[in-house]
Amino acid sequence: MRRLMDPHSCARPEEAAVEHLTLDLTVDFDRRTIAGRAVLRVARRPGAARLLLDTRDLEVRRVTLGEGGGPARFELGAGGPPLGRPLAIELAPGTRTVEIEYEAAPSAAAVQWLEPRQTAGGQHPFLFTQSQAILARTWVPCQDTPGVRMTYDAIVRVPRGLLAVMSAENPTARAADGVHRFRMPQAVPSYLLALAVGDLEFRSLGPRTGVYAEPATVARAAHEFSETERMIDAAEKLYGPYLWGRYDLLVLPPSFPFGGMENPRLTFATPTILAGDRSLTSLVAHELAHSWSGNLVTNATWNDFWLNEGFTVYFERRIMEELHGRPYAEMLALLGLQDLRACVKDKGATSADTRLLLDLAGRDPDEAVNEIAYEKGHSFLRLLEEAVGREAFDGFLREYFERHRFRSMTTGAFLEHLRARLLAGRPGLEERLGVDEWLHGTGLPANCPEPRSDAFLKVDRQVEAWKAGTRAGDLVTKGWSTHEWLHFLRQLPDPIAPARLADLDAAFQLTTSGNSEVLNAWFPHAIAARWEPAMAALERFLLSQGRRKFLKPLYKKLAETPEGLERARRIYEKARPGYHSVSTGTIDGILGVKA
Ligand code: BES
Ligand code: ZN
Repeated sequence: MRRLMDPHSCARPEEAAVEHLTLDLTVDFDRRTIAGRAVLRVARRPGAARLLLDTRDLEVRRVTLGEGGGPARFELGAGGPPLGRPLAIELAPGTRTVEIEYEAAPSAAAVQWLEPRQTAGGQHPFLFTQSQAILARTWVPCQDTPGVRMTYDAIVRVPRGLLAVMSAENPTARAADGVHRFRMPQAVPSYLLALAVGDLEFRSLGPRTGVYAEPATVARAAHEFSETERMIDAAEKLYGPYLWGRYDLLVLPPSFPFGGMENPRLTFATPTILAGDRSLTSLVAHELAHSWSGNLVTNATWNDFWLNEGFTVYFERRIMEELHGRPYAEMLALLGLQDLRACVKDKGATSADTRLLLDLAGRDPDEAVNEIAYEKGHSFLRLLEEAVGREAFDGFLREYFERHRFRSMTTGAFLEHLRARLLAGRPGLEERLGVDEWLHGTGLPANCPEPRSDAFLKVDRQVEAWKAGTRAGDLVTKGWSTHEWLHFLRQLPDPIAPARLADLDAAFQLTTSGNSEVLNAWFPHAIAARWEPAMAALERFLLSQGRRKFLKPLYKKLAETPEGLERARRIYEKARPGYHSVSTGTIDGILGVKA
């Protein structure tokens, strides 16, 4: 089989590929280290002389060959972030396993060590990892490429009284001796390795769903996520059986840098989606959808990232449509299209970063995380759906997941599948849709589908009325959902006169909203208008959570003026120690702060 080179990994899986990983790790909160042994079972080409692994900030203490092979010769090559150092291990003729004794540095970029005061309970420390895209190598020596899959099992030793959970079969109660055991019998790529340790409690949500959270949060979380079981039923009805056994959620402390992360069997989620009214649960549908698009059929390299995220956004909206109807899903789709347009405008319509198929060689794949993969990817799939009809398209997707499950997928292989299974028998369709332009062109093709939302048209009328001078209190906003509010806030002009901002805030209590998305849409207006009454709440928001999607636009907006930049730097100095490296990596750049 021809394998595509992953520019972000030194692994040579066509020579020797890791097929199973056994971890025995000790989590030391005082020293902030994860240390222990990784035993790797490899499938090798006869005669393959070495195993190549990715590492970054790992201290490799000893390497032994299995089957009585004794100490191994190994070499840790040169290299720094983001790729780190290749670990080359010499294999003996019969070697099937290698054992690596190692320690991950306190600064391991995947890992965030939290002080008790950074948790909801305030009593116990907490740890979580974030491996995607290429951070698994900072806490596990592995072939850190989505083109290689392995099964794994693990023993994780943590302080008594804390629970450890992983992207695997999980315990639901702490082990008295602090020793937790895990098994992941389905083969997964390294970016889906995940661990969290803390004062966690489990609540069942349904026959195969549940939620882990700190005791102070678990009831709120269970209420927010009560529709999860129905989401799985809807997803299975659409695109085939859920193949991972259980689907649980873990609510992390607020510094978690993403909204959600699709760690198999255990989605990691930010507490900022606990709005109280289930208005932000499309994120759960999104991470659940990755159980097919991403975790079953996996982007072969980060250049193909849109195959993970574009399919997942499409699938997410179909799940939400099943649960809440077409008008609801169309609001989500329109907000997504707005994000996409803003992103293309920001990058420039001729920017190479606006292509679906990326060329990230020599760059950190983290830079590819923008709306293009998500929303341009989604729009392309929606275009295909509209061209061939839902029934044909759903059949196509079902077959795509079924045929390629537990495999990686390149954009080229996807195109082959698309031609063979959908475009064949529909002469001229490929050209008419401009498939090549969608996959390889920049910007947004003219035939990009337009979602339709009557609810948003009503909101638009209120925006017009407001622009024409109607006072906020006289607008017709009764019954608006979070999505309508977001649309409203996004359509307002920039900047708004302070007196009119005050009028809006007095009528709708935006500054004190408990909904993180509403705050994120409101604060930019306050910043643009230099409206002091919102600044204390803005500062609290930036200090109380570390989700990059919120931090980035707000710090950026602040940085547009000299006074704003000064304020941003002052807040960031206080906030930075509480953020995960994924977020500081981005915000350091925006504010010109040296790490
Ligand atoms: N897998 C992504 C998060 C990710 C992407 C981590 C790239 C590291 C590198 C996850 O599924 C995701 O897309 N999360 C979104 C939420 C979603 C509803 C769009 C997020 O965190 O905002
Ligand atoms: Zn995603």
